[in-house]
Amino acid sequence: MVMKEISNRRSVREYRDKAVAEKDIVEIIKAGQFAPTARHNQAVEFVVVKNQKIKDKIFEIVGQEFVKEAPVLIVPVTDKTKTNCSVQDLSVASENMFLQATALGLGTVWKALKTEFAELEEIKKLLGIPEQFTAINIIPLGYPEEKPVPHKVIDFDAGKIHKEKW
Ligand SMILES: Cc1cc2nc3c(=O)[nH]c(=O)nc-3n(C[C@H](O)[C@H](O)[C@H](O)COP(=O)(O)O)c2cc1C
Repeated sequence: MVMKEISNRRSVREYRDKAVAEKDIVEIIKAGQFAPTARHNQAVEFVVVKNQKIKDKIFEIVGQEFVKEAPVLIVPVTDKTKTNCSVQDLSVASENMFLQATALGLGTVWKALKTEFAELEEIKKLLGIPEQFTAINIIPLGYPEEKPVPHKVIDFDAGKIHKEKW
């Protein structure tokens, strides 16, 4: 049941020093590729970074210690010439990836790429991402060091449902 993964998915910001199997990385990217895209443009691609020196450079650009500590960083990118819904396409792909990672016992967090601080441009340059591609986040991936508490029924707020009219 997907609600199990939805409840168990929490942001993980501490990772164990344990490699993630290549097949698990592929499964997570597959989940991202199977997400809906506007007009089925299928323009989302994925940059996978495991090299410590490159992760350190990414940390220098975007900050937050977990960026250099996570065994894997995945940067979902999309081709702006093939979609006018880049943010939406990348967001749904990211959530699919979060849920598949959770199902595999792996932790993730959404690390934002802030355009106002030129983070996106610096990351694109560092990773050689072609000009027409854009990204909104970096997805660190690894076995959780911390054990975040799952979302519970008590977190559900029925008061946010508006039936027929607000
Ligand atoms: C659009 C967006 C941007 C986020 N940016 C960051 C970020 O840059 N760094 C970070 O540590 N967490 C970031 N988060 C994670 C949120 O802080 C987190 O999802 C929220 O606190 C709820 O906790 P949960 O994910 O454990 O349910 C972001 C989440 C979203 C949806």
